[in-house]
Amino acid sequence: MKIISVVGARPNFMKIAPFCKVLEAYSDSEANETIEHILVHTGQHYDDRMSQSFFDALNIPQADINLGIGSGSHARQVGETMIAFEEVLKEHKPDWVVVVGDVNATCACSITAKKEGIRVAHIEAGLRSFDMDMPEEINRLVTDRLSDLLLTPDEISSENLLKEGVDENKIAFVGNVMIDTLEANRDIASGLDLVDILRDNCLEESQVSKLESISRAPNGYGLITLHRPSNVDDKAVLGDIIQFFKTEATVQLPFVWAIHPRTKKQLEAFGLWETVRDMQNLVLLHPVGYHQLLKMNMEARLVMTDSGGLQEECCVLGTPCLTLRWNTERPVTLQEHGGASLLVGNSVQRVRSAFEDSLSADRKPMSPPLWDGRAAERIFRAIVDAS
Ligand code: UD1
Repeated sequence: MKIISVVGARPNFMKIAPFCKVLEAYSDSEANETIEHILVHTGQHYDDRMSQSFFDALNIPQADINLGIGSGSHARQVGETMIAFEEVLKEHKPDWVVVVGDVNATCACSITAKKEGIRVAHIEAGLRSFDMDMPEEINRLVTDRLSDLLLTPDEISSENLLKEGVDENKIAFVGNVMIDTLEANRDIASGLDLVDILRDNCLEESQVSKLESISRAPNGYGLITLHRPSNVDDKAVLGDIIQFFKTEATVQLPFVWAIHPRTKKQLEAFGLWETVRDMQNLVLLHPVGYHQLLKMNMEARLVMTDSGGLQEECCVLGTPCLTLRWNTERPVTLQEHGGASLLVGNSVQRVRSAFEDSLSADRKPMSPPLWDGRAAERIFRAIVDAS
């Protein structure tokens, strides 16, 4: 059997790592059938800190093929990926294309594969925010509509697919593969030193003087990540969030913010960069590596984020998580389902009251069914069974 797996952007890498390991273990075993695995990187993310550092940290084999697509508008990214990926499919003729998550690479490569008559397996199928303003929601809908095997991380996702009329024989509830990576890397992350992480990832010299106070803060620190267009592409929305950080959040708790390149670009474009850089109780970091972020999450008093992956990691680690979004495709991580995450949108009134409550909240780790570190094995078995 020949499988092509596709990755493109940062959140894909922690999802493909366990799958690559299971395929490697299978190839090393005495199994009768050989599996040829080709890993394709579309090149949507290309900075070392957004891409190669995850391959290194998670021992992902180097991509066999890099399409080198890079940044651009959605149409350009999707279109160029399709053109380049079609060539790959024509040359290698795989039995399956395996796509993960909901980025442009996921959508582009599933369309291309189906048009070439190749079966598609989607890891992390069935997530729905029901918000069509979110580019990822479009990617999820298209990918799931086309997929032959829909590998879901939780039961809510399976139900979403059934409600959309997907044949139940195509759906396999396998659990959350990203949690395989978390469980496999907990010990390495625990062993890291917080001050070393801060020092090694400081965005610029001006931040170094703030490190000491963060690492010694008696009530701990908060962790921020933000990158969604709905939060960072609108000057008024981003301006209000920054004002809240400046006049309220960082007054009560020191914060560390690992800045996504998109967000940095927008802060500069909106003239907000100096305000953020000069906040006394806020340390700005480059995008940090997998283990570094895991360690910071393990020890944070609270997380403020719009990342889907972080919502899930906070759930398992129990870190109180204020999700700066109005909806989520990952409801299983929410407090009403026993998780650590609370949707607070991006209006300051709502963020403010949730922030106050979270300051005194305890850690409550919670792992939904099959978030047990063994999802990749079930994914592999489901693909073999469907072949
Ligand atoms: C993409 C995904 C999003 C995911 C996020 C995680 C889509 C539609 N969006 O959003 O679902 O949550 O990745 O990071 O696929 N840039 C760099 N270096 C890089 C990559 C990007 O500087 O290595 C900058 C470029 O200015 C680029 C901008 O970031 O234009 C946005 O990158 P892009 O890949 O278009 O989208 P993300 O916001 O990263």
